[in-house]
Amino acid sequence: MTATAQLTERSELGHGLVLRVQGPRELLACRPGQFMLLRCGPAWTPYLRRALFPVDVGDQGLAFWIDSLADEGLAWLSRRRVGDGLDLIGPLGKGFTLQPQQRRLLLVAEAAYIAPLLALMQVQLSRQGSVVLFLVAPTATALLPPGALPPAVEYYTATDDGAAGSVDELETLLAGALPWADALAAAGSASFLRRVQRHIDATRPAPYRGFAQAVAPVPLPCGAGACLACLVDTGRGHHRACQRGPVFDLMELAL
Ligand code: FES
Repeated sequence: MTATAQLTERSELGHGLVLRVQGPRELLACRPGQFMLLRCGPAWTPYLRRALFPVDVGDQGLAFWIDSLADEGLAWLSRRRVGDGLDLIGPLGKGFTLQPQQRRLLLVAEAAYIAPLLALMQVQLSRQGSVVLFLVAPTATALLPPGALPPAVEYYTATDDGAAGSVDELETLLAGALPWADALAAAGSASFLRRVQRHIDATRPAPYRGFAQAVAPVPLPCGAGACLACLVDTGRGHHRACQRGPVFDLMELAL
């Protein structure tokens, strides 16, 4: 649906800004892993809407994290004030699925891709599930500070420069946490997701379908199945991530 949502709150999260909006019920029905297309200018500049994954979903509205102002559209969005109306289309795509018996959730992400996993984390905690988060970033400033996360989340980090943990620790963490987890959700670049795939293959050679889900790292410019910019190879053909995803079974993605 297309809707105007009202900006109700601005707050900080790590090095970024959170914009919380309220709008029609259909808008709030967004699930973790689904995305919204936001108009990011007063008229047609920039022409394309920006695809954003809410970091929080539910009755309190949708929250979006603006973690970089390098994009002119996101920079415009970051200057909106409480009370402003935002033009949104969504929810779009297929999000994460967690079965009731999946109680121990392992989240693995590169920091720039973390948004949909934060929404999933909130859902898992709200149903009294356990969450372990492993976050990788180029530098410590790009990580989420521990205080930004709910205390119930077990949080591990690594940075390329080693200032907040070595990236080699991904291997160690996955080796320890994969046997514990009964669900895994990942978000990151293709090379990062390939690395996670390899570890799952080595640790759990035949994971059941639905054990590991991932957000396909593709652009989502139209959200309507028209532009084909979001094609994803699942090994059984190419699929439009905005229609069949963007959340897929990680082990099916040909990255
Ligand atoms: S985003 Fe355009 S076809 Fe999927």
